Amino acid sequence: MSSEKERDYERCRSIIGALCEGDDDQIAKMASIVGVLHNEMNDFFWTGFYRVVGGRLVIGPYQGTVGCLRIEIGKGVCGMAAAVGETQVVENVHDFPGHIACDGRSQSEIVVPVKDERGEVIAVLDVDSVKKGAFDELDRKCLEQILTHVWRGR
Ligand code: SME
Repeated sequence: MSSEKERDYERCRSIIGALCEGDDDQIAKMASIVGVLHNEMNDFFWTGFYRVVGGRLVIGPYQGTVGCLRIEIGKGVCGMAAAVGETQVVENVHDFPGHIACDGRSQSEIVVPVKDERGEVIAVLDVDSVKKGAFDELDRKCLEQILTHVWRGR
């Protein structure tokens, strides 16, 4: 028996796979992923990418309220995910030291690194929810799968 969330991710995976197949433009792929996830998933209040540009994170395609334009690597949840190259699942953003509040309504957050073929972090996908504890291991697994498929073809 699969959960509603699993079925939603399954649908997103297939739409995103079809949309991004064969496209090598980074922004086009990011914009398409955000457009699908933000509209198909429940509880995705802010959905967007930060790209690694000149040693900092710079905002990329997103949907939701206005996000901060730049984040230092190592700062906040996004900067931490980029620095360590590992997904960060934050149940309560108020408990995360250095969390950057772009919209005070956000309560929980997941940030997944995007890696190129060499394993270098080129961006992070950030999703915020207004609910506490909205993201768990299933979100981590499914979002990592989607990004790995789009950027590394497996
Ligand atoms: N909360 C993030 C910053 C980005 S926004 O929420 C859009 C962080 O702490 O990295």
